[in-house]
Amino acid sequence: MQVLKTIEELQNIRKEIKGTVGFVPTMGALHNGHISLIKKAREENEIVVVSIFVNPTQFLPGEDLDKYPRKDEADKKICQMCKVDYVFMPEISTMYSKEEVLVKAPNKSYVLEGKTRPGHFDGVLQVVLKLFNLVQPTNAYFGKKDAQQLSLIQQMVENFFLPINIIPCDIVRESDGLAMSSRNVYLDEQQRKDALLISKSLYFAASLIGKNELKSDVIKNKMLETMNILDVEYVAIVDRQFNEINEVVKGNTIILVVAKLGNTRLLDNIWI
Ligand code: PAJ
Repeated sequence: MQVLKTIEELQNIRKEIKGTVGFVPTMGALHNGHISLIKKAREENEIVVVSIFVNPTQFLPGEDLDKYPRKDEADKKICQMCKVDYVFMPEISTMYSKEEVLVKAPNKSYVLEGKTRPGHFDGVLQVVLKLFNLVQPTNAYFGKKDAQQLSLIQQMVENFFLPINIIPCDIVRESDGLAMSSRNVYLDEQQRKDALLISKSLYFAASLIGKNELKSDVIKNKMLETMNILDVEYVAIVDRQFNEINEVVKGNTIILVVAKLGNTRLLDNIWI
């Protein structure tokens, strides 16, 4: 495995690669969620590239950019164990110049995550486009955990005619159901227990739908009841294009929850 820091190194290596390239962009502090993406990339491609870059442009002022967990050495070991070929770990000054041509997420990105974090998806798309242009992957792997991010990246690939297959990957959970996240390390013992209510509410929603309760309002209210001790930012029921829907359509619905535990925002969702 080779660790690359500069654009030149990456571009020179990319020029020599003839086979399929699987790419997993991350912000590091790798956990089993990331690892599942890397494993899938390993299975499906000749060469695997992982990027580790805490991208400043997707954090809003006052968010956790400075204290976002950084575990470079452990991350490199994980990549090595997963038989990654190249890890790209650039500096901020390598990725960004002073003033940039910007990518702007569509207006529909200003709902849900984009409403609470306006501009967040602009930053995500900006860095992902740069990374795609550098790595030129055949297949790029993204978690359904960040469902809105995944949908916007799929749209960017379509709108900019990028010759890349976007591969959605299932959410990996702790054994008790909590969705894995680099931000889970911020939780204290009580918050960690309370956080379980999030995935439980999603499973509860799935069981209601299994009993043919399809009305979004009813499902949302029942979910909120199960999470009444939490500071829930939103529960949303949307179709795969992220339009809010009044009735669940099996095979085309995502139910999302965001709740704050102390200062930590946790996201989770279930695909129906
Ligand atoms: P990061 O939060 O590090 O996540 C990297 C990838 O891992 C994303 O595609 C995310 O959806 C996926 N992932 C995270 N937790 C997961 C879980 N529990 N199960 C399955 N997949 C999971 O998302 C980002 O970084 C950044 O926005 C990035 C795309 C790298 C751009 O900076």
